[in-house]
Amino acid sequence: PLRVAVLISGSGSNLQALIDAIESQQLPGVEIVLVISNKANAQGLQRALKHKLPVAYIPWKKREEAEQRISALFQLFQADLIVLAGWMRILSAGFIAQFPQRMINLHPALLPDDSSDSYTTSDGSVIPALRGLHVVERAIEAGLKVTGSTVHYVIPAVDAGPVICRAEVAIDVDETPDTLQEKLKNQEHRLIVEAVRAYAEQGRLVTSS
Ligand code: GAR
Repeated sequence: PLRVAVLISGSGSNLQALIDAIESQQLPGVEIVLVISNKANAQGLQRALKHKLPVAYIPWKKREEAEQRISALFQLFQADLIVLAGWMRILSAGFIAQFPQRMINLHPALLPDDSSDSYTTSDGSVIPALRGLHVVERAIEAGLKVTGSTVHYVIPAVDAGPVICRAEVAIDVDETPDTLQEKLKNQEHRLIVEAVRAYAEQGRLVTSS
């Protein structure tokens, strides 16, 4: 089976989507072997424990130390694939380089196939590629009519790397960060499962293009 480690920082609803997909046989050959959080009180840790998954809390005081502990755990649990599902810490280039084509990230905005700063939506409008933090709020503030979510391979540049899959959502006139976050998450729960399934079926470097 494909042994997956999931990194979280918060509610873990995307982790839950993966757990549910595995338990309902929608992800054949996939197993979650470890869940790591940088927050002791992350709700996602409780979700993992409820399903008897091994969990680790790794505080993020010193990045180097934390990364060493995380990669030791990946080795110990023999993780094949690392899924960043609501992981809110930037990983060093050296750490990322240890897992080429083995780490994927879920990002709550539309990212292009290349490193360009814009993204062309399905209706042909060109919007900024929102990278970094607070992209849900920033999409509304920028007056965008559409945003979305992207699952991509992790490379040393922040929120960049070959795209596995993505999906758009409309931003309504009365949209708030909360309503938009909820719409995005609902869609992400399908998207993250789709990405892990594609990876499990096709192996490394499945991309959307
Ligand atoms: C998701 O919307 C994910 O796209 C976003 O955090 C949320 C986590 O939700 N990720 C990032 O912002 C990564 N920088 P969850 O904890 O309920 O899965």
